Amino acid sequence: MSISAAPLFKPFAIKNLKLENRVVMAPMTRSFAPGGVPGADVAAYYRRRAENKVGLIITEGTVIDHPASTNDPRVPHIHGEAALSGWAKVVAEVHAAGGRIMPQIWHVGTVRKMGDKPNPEAPPIGPSGLFKPGVKVVEPMSEAEIESVIAAYGRAAGEARSLGFDGVEIHGAHGYLIDQFFWEGTNQRSDRWGGDMLARTRFAAEVVKSCRSNVGPDFPIVFRYSQWKQQDYAARLATTPELLGKFLAPLSDAGVDVFHCSTRRFWEPEFDGSHLNLAGWTKKLTGKPVITVGSVSLDTDMFAAFRGKGATITSIDKLIEMFERDEVDLVAVGRALLVDPAWAAKVHDDRMQDLLPFTPESMKSLS
Ligand SMILES: Cc1cc2nc3c(=O)[nH]c(=O)nc-3n(C[C@H](O)[C@H](O)[C@H](O)COP(=O)(O)O)c2cc1C
Repeated sequence: MSISAAPLFKPFAIKNLKLENRVVMAPMTRSFAPGGVPGADVAAYYRRRAENKVGLIITEGTVIDHPASTNDPRVPHIHGEAALSGWAKVVAEVHAAGGRIMPQIWHVGTVRKMGDKPNPEAPPIGPSGLFKPGVKVVEPMSEAEIESVIAAYGRAAGEARSLGFDGVEIHGAHGYLIDQFFWEGTNQRSDRWGGDMLARTRFAAEVVKSCRSNVGPDFPIVFRYSQWKQQDYAARLATTPELLGKFLAPLSDAGVDVFHCSTRRFWEPEFDGSHLNLAGWTKKLTGKPVITVGSVSLDTDMFAAFRGKGATITSIDKLIEMFERDEVDLVAVGRALLVDPAWAAKVHDDRMQDLLPFTPESMKSLS
């Protein structure tokens, strides 16, 4: 028999934001926003999760006001009148169902290729113009470009607040623009934006400060980061707890309220000699609340989904034990919530036998 899921359903507060429970919908790109505009189907999709006990929804990545911020014409924008009024309707639907929602703000950097839509004329940008070590796609960003992109992140956070979102998540993970500054494999600059670990966090810290100055002191800012990169699953920003502490301190000082620590399997220890995972270490080192994530209730990791593979249901006992030991504060659930809007309600009601397995077909529609 499984242990009680009650620890997942205790309330939690981030500053003045009160969450009914600890279950977070993980940000998942769905590409159902033609022309960058989220429509009524997107609003209904998020509303269904809010109606079914998800404590906090983090939206799919939504791209900032820069011509090269995306490589997919069906990814939503967080700029421009049509997209912003689409998001206002999403927020209204989620709030009407008693839910809480934050947009994930995003720039893909050199994951975009020359000529990609939309805006095929806009070249990609990256700290050193590298997609990965040895693969140069463009010249390094100029100082002026860096400053203008930092300002665009700040404007996106300001829009999030104006639209009535409950906070904002900055996407600093998975080898996209911000992570390209973090990772020495893609940041070979010798000016103040590159060099040692501390220098490589400068861009992200400035992004956080720019967001903070646009949203004021009380609006929650979540920062998502990962060790792994889509360019190299084995890459690591920090190989020891000491280095991780050095990496996190400037971000924490810049005004991050919650760290969202993206791992593929939540139960894996991050460093030898301790069972703590990346989120557990982040909480211990910064004293800030953390979100853990990765294969919750599923037997394969997210890359299986991108290879067209499904996943079957597994126990969440290890996750609940982590909450009981107070190692993590919130848990993000990805594929299990993509396939099943009622995942949280079923776990709450101890109906684990009713959870749906993840199928790659579920990615083809917004159910
Ligand atoms: C279809 C799909 C789209 C995703 N899009 C994003 C995204 O836009 N931003 C992001 O930070 N992570 C994204 N992810 C990663 C998820 O947020 C999550 O970290 C990952 O799926 C692991 O959680 P899971 O094992 O519960 O699915 C995506 C994952 C999937 C499956």
